[in-house]
Amino acid sequence: MRKPLLTKLLAGAALVAVASGSWAQGQVNIICSVQAEWCNLMSTVYAKTTGTKVNMTAKGSGEALAQLNAERANPKTDIWFGGTGDPHLQAAEQGLTLEYKSPQLPQLYPWAQKQAADSKYRTVGVYLGPLGFGYNKELLAKRKLNPPQSWADLLKPEFKGEVQMANPASSGTAYTMIATLVQIMGEEKAFEYLKALHPNISTYTRSGTAPVKAAARGETTVSVSFVHDVTTEAVNGFPVGSVTPSEGTGAEVGSMSIVKNGPNTEAAKKFYEWALTPGGQQFGLAAKQFQLPSNTQVPKDPRMTDPSKMKLINYDYAKYGASAERRRLIARWEKDVQNAAR
Ligand code: G6P
Repeated sequence: MRKPLLTKLLAGAALVAVASGSWAQGQVNIICSVQAEWCNLMSTVYAKTTGTKVNMTAKGSGEALAQLNAERANPKTDIWFGGTGDPHLQAAEQGLTLEYKSPQLPQLYPWAQKQAADSKYRTVGVYLGPLGFGYNKELLAKRKLNPPQSWADLLKPEFKGEVQMANPASSGTAYTMIATLVQIMGEEKAFEYLKALHPNISTYTRSGTAPVKAAARGETTVSVSFVHDVTTEAVNGFPVGSVTPSEGTGAEVGSMSIVKNGPNTEAAKKFYEWALTPGGQQFGLAAKQFQLPSNTQVPKDPRMTDPSKMKLINYDYAKYGASAERRRLIARWEKDVQNAAR
């Protein structure tokens, strides 16, 4: 990022911090489940503008939930920022996160408010991101193949060993895919589909963004990814394109939760409020992240996700974010798909 832009953003963020009375010291421990560039920028700016020490740990959505469970008796974390909404809902149901109703809720899109209501105010939506595919344009051209347009296209034999997706136990991106397929096809057909896809998958990565980074670098032809993560690679100059499947697709409601009994709950609330302001939400775009921010007042960018241009299913977040359902679907995938012969 060029210096003047950062300076401008910092000045804006400082104003927001002062205006909202959030000038604070002390520290806040954050698990961050968005891309590192965004986590780092946010923590630098927040530390500089508020004087708060920020301890940031990066973890995928499933891993973050596992960590909060492991810390349950003696939480070390104050805030869990970002990552797909389903495991945040699961954390809420498991009593790992604090009930807190932000006065800024009315400024958020309905999907972000619904996420809060579904969790009994133990999480909140911070961004929306639809699921789709990324593909390497050069590899496709070399093999004279068309980009996949549908879930059905991913099964084509020409993509054998050429697709990467993440592992749903660690990655919220991959769990969103499974829950989406179950909602589109019904559970039995969805698992038949996942088994049929298995020979085309070269590897199930730990992180949700690893597949598109591999596609960007020519290590795989196709990735199952959030489309905004493909945009990030394209903006960074890699030869990738994205598509949302023609049968319809699901979207994540990226979420944020305050940990119950965390060591710095007051500092956590201040960070949480800041992260919901238009000023706090501009740092996604500044870090080249193109999800749709949940505060309706954040200025739009043409590269940002526009849900009105996609065939989005009516994803049942409450159902697929329920503990028993999420655990069951992941266990079924591990048993029926992950270790199946190729
Ligand atoms: C990326 C995306 C986020 C998403 C996250 C999930 O950072 O930009 O929108 O929430 O991945 O990560 P995971 O590793 O859990 O799939």
